[in-house]
Amino acid sequence: MDTQRHATKVVIVTGAGSGIGLATVVRLAREGATVVATDIDAGRLERVRTAGAEATAILADIGLQADVDRLVDDTVRRHGRVDILVNNAGINDNFLPAHAVDDVTWDRVMSVNVRGPLMLCRRVLPGMVERRTGAIVNVASVGSFKGGTSGVAYTTSKHALVGMSRSIAWYYATDGIRCNAVCPGGVQTNIGATSVPRETVHLERLGPIHAAGRRMAQPDEVATLISWLASDEASNVNGAVIPVDAGWSAG
Ligand SMILES: NC(=O)c1ccc[n+]([C@@H]2O[C@H](COP(=O)([O-])OP(=O)(O)OC[C@H]3O[C@@H](n4cnc5c(N)ncnc54)[C@H](O)[C@@H]3O)[C@@H](O)[C@H]2O)c1
Repeated sequence: MDTQRHATKVVIVTGAGSGIGLATVVRLAREGATVVATDIDAGRLERVRTAGAEATAILADIGLQADVDRLVDDTVRRHGRVDILVNNAGINDNFLPAHAVDDVTWDRVMSVNVRGPLMLCRRVLPGMVERRTGAIVNVASVGSFKGGTSGVAYTTSKHALVGMSRSIAWYYATDGIRCNAVCPGGVQTNIGATSVPRETVHLERLGPIHAAGRRMAQPDEVATLISWLASDEASNVNGAVIPVDAGWSAG
């Protein structure tokens, strides 16, 4: 493995202040990338600095077009281009099933987990096409394969993210651009705030599935796959949807 495999690459990582995003920033920076770390939460974004990663921190809500525009414009102004995009930011839906999901939860989950990644791809793809190179990694979920891991909004959003990844992979393959999705199982992060069950009936069935199905991974066990997919070492991998779940989705 080339330990400086991302040298000369400019990378945007969303949801960079916590969990998988923070681990990805630390790893990519260590592997030579020029990293732009973005998060909606200023306190969390501060952790990038305290984690010792060299990165440009930009506060942004990826659910807002104006913030996405500012993020990409700032990145290009400072670093010239975007070579790699890691669409990592995501929120859960408090495990609400279809009969119980409220519009606020549905719209917010779709906005952060689906529309945000699309808006970012839409902004960075033209530059990648022009340079005939680029890599996008979307952080999906075991919930991209299964109906029984979260609520209806999260499950729908993560299935959609896989469709988006495959569409981009197919359309832009001839432009030298790769787009892949990673699908984590349980990971020790701070996603808990949007993972507080609000429906006991649902929880009674989901709780045992979670207990039986998942080994809690450390965030870097996902970051290592993200880094590899983003690197030239994965030059022939495009449109892949890869579980990183200790076998949860295999069962
Ligand atoms: N933790 C798990 O078990 C698990 C499992 C499968 C998939 N995932 C996925 O991994 C990704 C990362 O989640 P995590 O577990 O590290 O969670 P986390 O909560 O620890 O980190 C997510 C980060 O995203 C940020 N964020 C939230 N909304 C945002 C917005 N609108 N704009 C910008 N930043 C925003 C949060 O502030 C937070 O810092 C998510 O897409 C999640 O769905 C996590």
